[in-house]
Amino acid sequence: VQGLLERGPLAGLRVLVTAGPTREAIDPVRYISNRSSGRMGYAVAQACREAGAEVVLVSGPTALAPPPGVRLVRVESAAEMLAAVEAEVDACAIFIAAAAVADYRPAETAPAKIKKRAQRLGLELVRNPDILATVARRRPRPFVVGFAAETEAVEANARAKLAAKGLDLVAANRVGPGIGFDREDNELTLIWEDGAEPLGRASKLELARRLVARIAERHGARDP
Ligand code: CTP
Ligand code: CA
Repeated sequence: VQGLLERGPLAGLRVLVTAGPTREAIDPVRYISNRSSGRMGYAVAQACREAGAEVVLVSGPTALAPPPGVRLVRVESAAEMLAAVEAEVDACAIFIAAAAVADYRPAETAPAKIKKRAQRLGLELVRNPDILATVARRRPRPFVVGFAAETEAVEANARAKLAAKGLDLVAANRVGPGIGFDREDNELTLIWEDGAEPLGRASKLELARRLVARIAERHGARDP
């Protein structure tokens, strides 16, 4: 196995992958989160390892075991995920953001459990840092890959994210009833600056392998 990994297309490279949802605490027993299972990100981490990379997987809470040979860093909130990524990213040639990071967190986390009193309760939210955009702004920076979870206008929305965040690649992901979150299969389209490339509909692991093969080709062809 070692010999095979040493000859893989990502041999000798370290890859940083984010995966899973984040949890944003409302009080000590409650949080805001989303339906991400972490499966796509864990499949990407596995595919990178199979391709010979040294893999660091920064993961929000999931029910999944880390793929063999992958170093797992567990986090809970978006702020913790950003800190973990910033501690690892300088040593990485490729960054792949598959996490479903909560876009907002409660403006304040109550120090004690909130008791029910009034009939209505407002919750003020503030924006979380964009981990992917933060990495893409670094100089020097790794080869930067984002995901885009979209329910409509998948390619147009994904291309807007590629441009706005200055990414090398966006893997556009159709989500909604029957596809995407919390499912074994998925459908991906790669959005490059110079075109779109459908990867089809398949299991998350199969799609991750196709995605990683294309990342390895483009990363290898990049100017040093
Ligand atoms: N992402 C991130 N940090 C955030 C939000 C998103 O790193 N705070 C990353 C995700 O991991 C994904 C990409 O950004 O790779 C796109 O996430 P997505 O939720 O599709 O897009 P957003 O930029 O958050 O925009 P919106 O949710 O409004 O569509
Ligand atoms: Ca988002």
